[in-house]
Amino acid sequence: MMESTLLPAEPLPEAQREGVYQAIFTRRDTRGEFLPDPVPDAVLSRILTAAHHAPSVGFMQPWSFVLVRSPEVRRRVHDAFLKAHAEAALMFPEDKREIYRSLKLEGIMEAPINICITCDRERAGRVVIGRTHIRTMDLYSSVCAVQNLWLAARAEGLGIGWVSIFDNAVVQQALNIPAGIVPVAYLCVGKIRGYHPRPELESAGWRARLPLDQLIHFDQWGAQGGEDGLLEQLRDDEAALAEDRFTITR
Ligand SMILES: Cc1cc2nc3c(=O)[nH]c(=O)nc-3n(C[C@H](O)[C@H](O)[C@H](O)COP(=O)(O)O)c2cc1C
Repeated sequence: MMESTLLPAEPLPEAQREGVYQAIFTRRDTRGEFLPDPVPDAVLSRILTAAHHAPSVGFMQPWSFVLVRSPEVRRRVHDAFLKAHAEAALMFPEDKREIYRSLKLEGIMEAPINICITCDRERAGRVVIGRTHIRTMDLYSSVCAVQNLWLAARAEGLGIGWVSIFDNAVVQQALNIPAGIVPVAYLCVGKIRGYHPRPELESAGWRARLPLDQLIHFDQWGAQGGEDGLLEQLRDDEAALAEDRFTITR
């Protein structure tokens, strides 16, 4: 292995560190707040560059980005959404169907640009370091690119809405994506009127955020709870967030 000079492993300066957490905690899935203004190329370039610097199994970089501005192409994806959305409503218990139908779950036509992030399952050949035993690792890598893009977009004041309610084959066809390349995420991207302070599904009473301390296991699945100091800290951080007083120096 070639030796390379290491960069210092110091925490980032405080303001930058706060900024990372701010981006994470105030990022939202955006559907109904898009403005028609185009996203400047300089901003689009930065968030795509952030996505391209995501981790990937075997440094495979399996992603590509289909930028969709054409109203005709977006209309085809939107039609696929409408069909799947109607089907989906019937899958929920009757008492939830009305709420489901009332939710705004996409901004395909309103957002000035849609971005489909794909995964080329053969990009680095058949045998890929790190993916030899769990083949889906390439798909997870593309999802890492999605999250980088999403957080960078938040830092830039843009909104992103992930749309997954459609037959993926229709999207594949509408975007002319070859077989073997999987559409992983279809994202609506653009400037927005503002961010909801909480997930919309939470505000709508659909589902609440789970208590993090109940999702932690020690060494073995099911070994939970107790008087561990970490759990106390987690509860404290969640409370601070809920009360809008989360800082790294609290
Ligand atoms: C894989 C994935 C698929 C999603 N698909 C949709 C979707 O089809 N429509 C939608 O409105 N939101 C979709 N979302 C957004 C989630 O509903 C949202 O992330 C969640 O409710 C939490 O809200 P937040 O992202 O604003 O924190 C998706 C999110 C993920 C990660």
